[in-house]
Amino acid sequence: MKNENITDDVDLSTARQQKLFHSPPPYKDLTAIIENEDCRIGMKQLEDNSVSLVLTDPPYFIDGMGDDWNSKKLDARVKPGVIGSLPAGMKFSVEQGQELQKFLSPVAEEWMRVIRPGGFCLVFSQNRLVHRTAIALEDAGFEIRDVLIWRYEGQAKAFSQDHFIRKRKLPEEEKDRLLRKIGGRKTPQLKPQGEMIILAQAPRDGTFVDNWDKWETGLIDVDNPLINATQFPGTVIPANKPKERYGHITAKPVDLLQHLIRIFSAPRAIVFDSFAGSGSTGVAAILEGRDFIGYEIESEMANRAQERIKATFYEQQSPNAG
Ligand SMILES: C[S@@+](CC[C@H](N)C(=O)[O-])C[C@H]1O[C@@H](n2cnc3c(N)ncnc32)[C@H](O)[C@@H]1O
Repeated sequence: MKNENITDDVDLSTARQQKLFHSPPPYKDLTAIIENEDCRIGMKQLEDNSVSLVLTDPPYFIDGMGDDWNSKKLDARVKPGVIGSLPAGMKFSVEQGQELQKFLSPVAEEWMRVIRPGGFCLVFSQNRLVHRTAIALEDAGFEIRDVLIWRYEGQAKAFSQDHFIRKRKLPEEEKDRLLRKIGGRKTPQLKPQGEMIILAQAPRDGTFVDNWDKWETGLIDVDNPLINATQFPGTVIPANKPKERYGHITAKPVDLLQHLIRIFSAPRAIVFDSFAGSGSTGVAAILEGRDFIGYEIESEMANRAQERIKATFYEQQSPNAG
């Protein structure tokens, strides 16, 4: 049954501040908002100490995934050779880390302003640029508490050099000599098996107990983890890459996000994602009974995020929902 209080057909371009969901009890005040806006501008509208958990997956700032992120161009590059000669993310340069830090530092300062004292800030990061993410957070005043690993099985991407040697304008015997000397060695990329998530925390307001009493942040709930449910939650969290990517090259697994939300925020807390992409964090927040605010700069992606979150909400409301 459709809930009359849920705003339908929201046009993001004209209804920026519109609440997507506003449901009757028991979710009287539950809201999920996706803003189709640059978070660096939009976040300024949020009040100080207004969110309980920042859970976000910023642009990777590796080749093709910087502040000029464009899903269509990236999708075309997932298959090598379609636009450039390398799939997205394969070109390396030292400037990428510097650019990431320059981009993230003012964003991290806003996270520090909007997060409640003691609140956790969980930020996905490409492994080879994770130090820049950590510095941006630390410089903004967060305490780096840990680095979590999202454990998955990736695909090996190291390149053989044989093809390049064979293409060289050299006598055949010289090519054979080089091929023998290189001995099948590849470019320095081991098979990816995990991605890092920085766990940072805003300074507390008093003791852990006083902070929780006032803000309901700063302590973790270890009693009911979603992943490896019988174990004390650990820093290495296994989760399969999502089969359905909702048109987003880096869509994150919803179960992983639910697991993190469950541990690091209180029921009904506001979860905040400045880089919402296809809306995975919002879906996870709704599934865990949290409120959600998200920003996404690409209008098509913002609409997709909105639709996903809306569908999740309707499913939860349906009489057959488990
Ligand atoms: C790594 S992806 C997030 C993917 C997301 N976790 C998911 O599961 O779909 C980063 C997203 O940030 C968006 N983005 C980049 N710069 C932004 C900005 N300044 N403000 C808001 N969104 C931005 C990109 O369009 C992209 O969709």
